[in-house]
Amino acid sequence: MARGAFIVVEGLDRSGKTTQTDLLASRLATSGVSVERRKFPDRTTDTGQLIDAYLRGTTDLDDRAIHLLFSANRWEATASLESRLSAGATVLCDRYAFSGVAFSAAKGLPLAWCRAPDVGLPAPDLTLFLDLAPEAAAERGRIWRGALASETRGWVTIDAGRDREAVAQDILEHVESHVHGIDAPIGRLWVDDDVSPLF
Ligand code: TMP
Repeated sequence: MARGAFIVVEGLDRSGKTTQTDLLASRLATSGVSVERRKFPDRTTDTGQLIDAYLRGTTDLDDRAIHLLFSANRWEATASLESRLSAGATVLCDRYAFSGVAFSAAKGLPLAWCRAPDVGLPAPDLTLFLDLAPEAAAERGRIWRGALASETRGWVTIDAGRDREAVAQDILEHVESHVHGIDAPIGRLWVDDDVSPLF
């Protein structure tokens, strides 16, 4: 039996990620696709609670320590994620390792160091990057578009500056070819990539 597709929605804060992931999930479910939602950080686990305290400002953590916690939060979800994919569910995930790298690199941590803990995670079959006014977020945009997009298979940039329905349609068109099952095994994130001289 073909496995389900692993689809990640990434983007800057306020790019409409959550709204679009909700819309996509309900449209796929209506058309009979078995869909499961995921979100990182998953604040329900032990690591997720530490991350939640950090994000709410009740705990201060070293930039490297919080980076590793975000990564651990993904690793601890890996077994259940893979088992849902193997059972044929299409998994729609709001944020993943790309958020981890982009947000920590924007704090000044080296890109190669940021990527290292996430190397080998289940690789998305499709990553939809919701791009908003790139010129307004020049530095962070550069990291996303240059360092991540160019080295990530299945990366699609969506212009999220349009109206909600236009964005939703665009996303649906990219997703449709993935939701009827995938025969290839689950890939491993960044395992075979050459390390760019930029890093
Ligand atoms: P959220 O608002 O989607 O729950 O994400 C919380 C914040 O955490 C958001 O500003 C992005 C940031 N983040 C990281 O810094 N590293 C990560 O690995 C992830 C998944 C999110």
